[in-house]
Amino acid sequence: MQATFDKIQASTLGEGGLPNEVYTSDGFFKWERDHLFASRWFGIGFSADVPEPGDIHRVDVLGASLLIVRGDDQQIRVFHNVCRHRGRQLLDEPCTRAKLIRCPYHSWTYRLDGTLSGTPHIGGSGVHTVDNFDKSRFTLYEIAVSTWLDVVFINLDGQAGPFENFIKPLVKRLERLWGTEGPAGLTPARDGFTEMEVKSNWKLAVENYLEAYHLPIVHPVLNRYSPLSQHYAYHDAADFAGQGVTSYRPVINGAERLPILSGWKEELKHTAEYPSVYPNVLIGVQHDHVFTMLLLPLASDRTLERVELQFIDEGATDNAFTDTRSAILEGWRGVFLEDVSAVEGMQYGRYSQAFDGGVFTPVLDLATRHFHRWYAQHVNAKIEAT
Ligand code: FES
Ligand SMILES: [Fe+2]
Repeated sequence: MQATFDKIQASTLGEGGLPNEVYTSDGFFKWERDHLFASRWFGIGFSADVPEPGDIHRVDVLGASLLIVRGDDQQIRVFHNVCRHRGRQLLDEPCTRAKLIRCPYHSWTYRLDGTLSGTPHIGGSGVHTVDNFDKSRFTLYEIAVSTWLDVVFINLDGQAGPFENFIKPLVKRLERLWGTEGPAGLTPARDGFTEMEVKSNWKLAVENYLEAYHLPIVHPVLNRYSPLSQHYAYHDAADFAGQGVTSYRPVINGAERLPILSGWKEELKHTAEYPSVYPNVLIGVQHDHVFTMLLLPLASDRTLERVELQFIDEGATDNAFTDTRSAILEGWRGVFLEDVSAVEGMQYGRYSQAFDGGVFTPVLDLATRHFHRWYAQHVNAKIEAT
């Protein structure tokens, strides 16, 4: 395996991509969780999944079950969904406005900050305390968390370093569009969610998002107003790459135009950018709305895609924009559904004994090659360290 990854890192234009096994093997899928994902920041949900204190959202990803919890202090925390007593999964379903997290097995309870609260009958029937049992040692297993663009990012091993350092290069790039004040007023729309499960490895969804080469064939309608010729690619950062367009036109499906980001530069109002933040967050930035898509790997050949739309100020909430919001959501959902057959078709192609990673074309596949090199570099680094 190592020899293949070394070849990808060193590859010149036209040479091939990742081997089939990294898309099809269950063993590799687990390896990715424990080594690639665990040591990095990646997205697992939206803060809009837990709008109120006591809201708990369950996320099943990479074979693990996690809880996103909003505390009484408004803080978002993420815990492994497992009880410290005998290891029963704590929550089978999400819940709202909880005061405590109660294990359904022996009814131990945890506060929303993860600390252990109640231990009924721990000292025998009717005896709820016991000497020398230090509750502070049995807080829920907590995971490092940071929220950006409403995406809840986590770092499983706690060793990835500050999230701000990780995201800074992308923030700098986007400041070119929305200015140094950032996306002020950006708000998730209550009616701005959609999701779909695809029968594909998560990496193929990243790769598909990185290139516009397929646009005229897979998205003929989109290509009419956002043609391939108006797209450009960027692939010079360490942890993201993407594409942009210079022909963005807002959807106007009502009397009024959506509010736009106040810092957006007038001369760039037809520019929109679509970065992929490795490993699993895809972003679309337009002056009147932003979408984020999470790729939640479920198995080597299954990925849940969750999409959240955000608008600016009253654009996110006002009923005057309901039809416009819904037209934008349906528009993007249609585009993402068009991509499903492409990524699922590539997954099927990875079971071919003849296919050997394919070939990168010298212009339109450069961002895909960037992702392969990023992947190979991180896999090799982990293999060397273990
Ligand atoms: S396993 Fe949770 S209280 Fe026993
Ligand atoms: Fe596409």
